[in-house]
Amino acid sequence: MKLPFAESYRIKMIAPIKKSTRVEREAWIKTANYNLFNLRSEQVFIDLLTDSGTGAMSEQQWSEMMLGDESYAGASSYYKMKDAIKKILGFDHFLPTHQGRAAENVLFSVLVKEGDIVPGNSHFDTTKGHIEFRKAKAIDCTIDEAFHTELEYPFKGNVDIKKLEKVFDENDASKIKFVIVTVTNNTSGGQPVSMQNLKDVRQFADEKGILVVFDSARFAENAYFIKKREAGYEDKTIKEIVAEMYTYADAMTMSSKKDAIVNMGGFIAMRSKELYDEASVFNIMFEGYLTYGGMSGRDMNALAQGLDEGTEFDYLETRIKQVEFLGHKLMEFGIPVQRPIGGHAVFIDAKKMLPNIPKEEFAAQTLTIELYLEAGIRGVEIGSILADRDPETRLNRYPDLELMRLAIPRRTYTNDHMSYIAAALFNVFERRNKITKGFRIVKEAPILRHFTVELEKIT
Ligand code: F0G
Repeated sequence: MKLPFAESYRIKMIAPIKKSTRVEREAWIKTANYNLFNLRSEQVFIDLLTDSGTGAMSEQQWSEMMLGDESYAGASSYYKMKDAIKKILGFDHFLPTHQGRAAENVLFSVLVKEGDIVPGNSHFDTTKGHIEFRKAKAIDCTIDEAFHTELEYPFKGNVDIKKLEKVFDENDASKIKFVIVTVTNNTSGGQPVSMQNLKDVRQFADEKGILVVFDSARFAENAYFIKKREAGYEDKTIKEIVAEMYTYADAMTMSSKKDAIVNMGGFIAMRSKELYDEASVFNIMFEGYLTYGGMSGRDMNALAQGLDEGTEFDYLETRIKQVEFLGHKLMEFGIPVQRPIGGHAVFIDAKKMLPNIPKEEFAAQTLTIELYLEAGIRGVEIGSILADRDPETRLNRYPDLELMRLAIPRRTYTNDHMSYIAAALFNVFERRNKITKGFRIVKEAPILRHFTVELEKIT
């Protein structure tokens, strides 16, 4: 008999989780103003709000925590992290930051000025937030295939070079200093970018004389998909693929809470010493001294170890196969998901799943609330609430994709949990035609509103 797939680790420590009743959940979600960020974690049975900082560290990472050097300047932990970044990603210079958005804040303080334009592939919300906060504009150049959820296309995260060209043709080119490539592309469904596309972006940037920055939160998952789907890479190791990917970048921002499998941390890495020097000023001001930048020594140690583990094939296969396991179960039930299944999450097409909810009533948020009520599972809306208002017209933006994301924390849940989630969503799917009313906003922040928005049920 052919041996089936099995996880490449065993469990050493557990954290209990509790089920609740529907009546309890109805009261809790109302008190939370129908914003799932406002729930207490004890009110959630399976938490798929994010895969960011929610993974389980390995015994090697925990041992590294004990070896952390908490010196203010020149800590050995800083050098451990520097060595790991040089070895795995190839950059000579780096700045630690407390998380990914802090890396964006520091780097964009150097690179983004009022009136600038930053093209990219579906900028993540904090990335867009940091661009728009500086009165600059983020222009999405993701390929059109990404917006057709049922279409099977191997690299739906790709940048459309023709769209990039158009951004240059239609704008003052002196306002475009860099292009940002998000690997994997979170907002369009955890979809990968091909090596060929990274090369094409590099070539384009060289022709125009601009920089290429990778938003790298899930770079290792991206490398796994290149190995699995792109001709010529099947026999390469993940580390070889990662090394090649970064030859096409000038700089990277990193939320280490994802593919470096730590609970907190981030960094910026770059080739240019000049850029490092400029960014250093802001790092000291916003994050901390250059050799800790908002991180503890122990966290830098765990991060260095996590970068190494996170770029091992066995780990990545275990992780991505679990996401696929859930996605394929949902597909068997006929539930509309972004296909193929992405690296860190399954994305449900809420417009297709709840066709009776008008766009003004937030279908993805409605679906997320329904799933919570059904089984205590917390997903997240990646749709028009997250998209914020247009900074100029202040009108709601309605993105092409209105999704509910079920993000799977790394090494945290079992496949029985995945089956439970699939069954819960199936039950919502069965009664989808009865779900006809959504929600209205009663309070919102001017930017990044989804974290704190308050909603009211439309009756
Ligand atoms: N870039 C991408 C692609 C991300 O997915 C995130 C965070 C960030 C940057 C910002 O990093 O949270 O460390 O400040 N994504 C999380 C998520 C929050 O749930 O997808 P951060």
